[in-house]
Amino acid sequence: MPGNFISRRVGDESIIIVRDKRMELHAFYNACRHRGTRLCITDDGQFKGNAIVCPYHGWTYALDGKLLATPNMLDADNFDTEDYPLFSVGLEVWEGFIFVNLGGDHQPLSSQLGRDETQFHRYHMAQLKLGKQITYDIKANWKIIIENYMECLHCPQIHPELCDIVPLYQQGLVTELDGTQGNKFIEGAYTFTPNGSSSRPLFRDLNKEEKSTYGGCVVYPNLLVNLHPDCVVTHALWSESPDRTKVICEWLFEPSTLDRSDLDHSDIVEFWDRVNRQDWEVCELVQEGVNSRAYTHGVYAPQEGHLYEFNQYVLRKLGTKLRPDLNTGLADKPRQMPAD
Ligand code: FES
Ligand code: FE
Repeated sequence: MPGNFISRRVGDESIIIVRDKRMELHAFYNACRHRGTRLCITDDGQFKGNAIVCPYHGWTYALDGKLLATPNMLDADNFDTEDYPLFSVGLEVWEGFIFVNLGGDHQPLSSQLGRDETQFHRYHMAQLKLGKQITYDIKANWKIIIENYMECLHCPQIHPELCDIVPLYQQGLVTELDGTQGNKFIEGAYTFTPNGSSSRPLFRDLNKEEKSTYGGCVVYPNLLVNLHPDCVVTHALWSESPDRTKVICEWLFEPSTLDRSDLDHSDIVEFWDRVNRQDWEVCELVQEGVNSRAYTHGVYAPQEGHLYEFNQYVLRKLGTKLRPDLNTGLADKPRQMPAD
């Protein structure tokens, strides 16, 4: 409803996202235009009276960020409230997920997604309801967690339960050798539970292939989306510091499925929670290892092309010049990873 807000830390910044009277979303830096005071200190809530009031001297802003009233500036010459709206932040909504852009470059989200967006439509993610949320505090850099997610070379050693239901993982692969996407379940399995089945109905609009496939994808920079035929599981990565990441994992279900009292969703929650913890444990070991003075860079295995592309993305965003010896496509022989 109007006035509902959330605030989130993005890097070193605090950002407010709020719905205005027309139910449109806006994002602002959490700083008053007078002397910079934090406007809200809770993670979520509602601005009373459809206004954002600074707790310090009471400057008051509309939900769309316009400055409405300044009690202590009434007599000031040459002061125009129109010149002092809240500092706005770029915002776009994709499949129900809110993305903010602090870069000021007005780069559309679609260019950032860089994928065929239609592949998600049949899961109707914007309509799904939250069934479970678990927050993990991981002692590892966010990029280590993304890199881990992008490869399955570790699956045979780390995830025996996953290998039981997705045969491809027994070989440490994430896509079919013939180049087709998707991770097929074993016969009779269709979701992430110990035997690959559940009593939940499948999403109704999926095609035949999607009903027998798990799809995992990274939406740069910090969202992991896991598509199962009966549930979508997301991981949102929030970098807390160079060696610490908060991961919020959410299990999303069809509303009519979630409302049924005869269904128990703990099967997929517990399965994913186990897989998550297996991954976090090894990510923390990586963080400890890369802290060693002896470790300057890694090596790409031939199947780690996704990691290579991700590293290039990060380097581009940092404005770092690509090294010519790294500037190739999928690694067809071992190559060094970037040192930084
Ligand atoms: Fe916000 Fe003064 S700092 S009103
Ligand atoms: Fe894993």
